[in-house]
Amino acid sequence: MVPELQKTTVRIQQPERVMGVIRAIKEQGSSKLQVISDFDMTLSRFGCNGRRCPTSHNILDNSHVISEDGKKKLKDLLHHYYPIEIDPNRSLEEKRPLMVEWWTRAHELLSQQRIQKGDIAQIVRESDVMLRDGFNELFDQLHKYNVPMFIFSAGVGDILEEIIRQANVFYPNVNVVSNYMDFDDSGVLRCFKSPLIHTYNKNNSVLQGTAYFQQLSTRTSIILLGDSMGDLTMADGVPSVENILKIGFLNDKVEERRGKYLDAYDIVLESDETLDVVNGILRYIL
Ligand code: TMP
Ligand code: MG
Repeated sequence: MVPELQKTTVRIQQPERVMGVIRAIKEQGSSKLQVISDFDMTLSRFGCNGRRCPTSHNILDNSHVISEDGKKKLKDLLHHYYPIEIDPNRSLEEKRPLMVEWWTRAHELLSQQRIQKGDIAQIVRESDVMLRDGFNELFDQLHKYNVPMFIFSAGVGDILEEIIRQANVFYPNVNVVSNYMDFDDSGVLRCFKSPLIHTYNKNNSVLQGTAYFQQLSTRTSIILLGDSMGDLTMADGVPSVENILKIGFLNDKVEERRGKYLDAYDIVLESDETLDVVNGILRYIL
């Protein structure tokens, strides 16, 4: 059915159930389908040749527009809060206020750097960001079959939009909800727009006022793509879900986190830098 599911990176706790969901989505057809995806470390790569790839925040942090002092402070925040973000032994309730703290501090630091709107394209061009192998096929197929793609990101919206624009895949069926920069009249960053989206509030609470999922209420088949336990709630605002397939990229601390990922995601992709499995499933469905 889907030969890519034989890859050694694929782990599935309930193969029969997963096959049933994939079959049901195919039967419902492309007019019932929508894709909801995280961006950082899901559509973008986690690593390449043993080196980490940047998140949309890291792209700014590492860029020439940030002072050395600013870079050090942002790196200190990352080293303090990232281990907390991915710690399988802390509850979401415990993590949530700490993530608000991280995002608030990082956004304050970035807002002190006089970043210019006009510099964003160059910052992205000069960065080491990479989309996962197969991103072209993913975006092209969804566009070709008019399947809406919702990118729900706790990263920086202006940066991630520029990444997909430079990759020539920012098609009209792609919608983004993320943290957007607020520039003053002369195009200098002064703050980030609310609501603040962090790893563990990616749910309806930050989508109030967006009619997006309401408009798509007939699209009851969902493919959800994520890399964090926080991405599992991204489809909570969909009014009626008939079939949902949750695909999770397990990038880091694979052994420690495997159990929790297998319980939560239908398909777990371990250290897989490609979109092969997602594309294989879509090739079967569409
Ligand atoms: P997301 O992939 O769930 O949308 O979350 C964005 C990622 O951004 C999350 O894994 C943490 C990361 N991040 C940074 O790398 N630097 C930062 O300053 C902040 C606030 C987040
Ligand atoms: Mg992510």
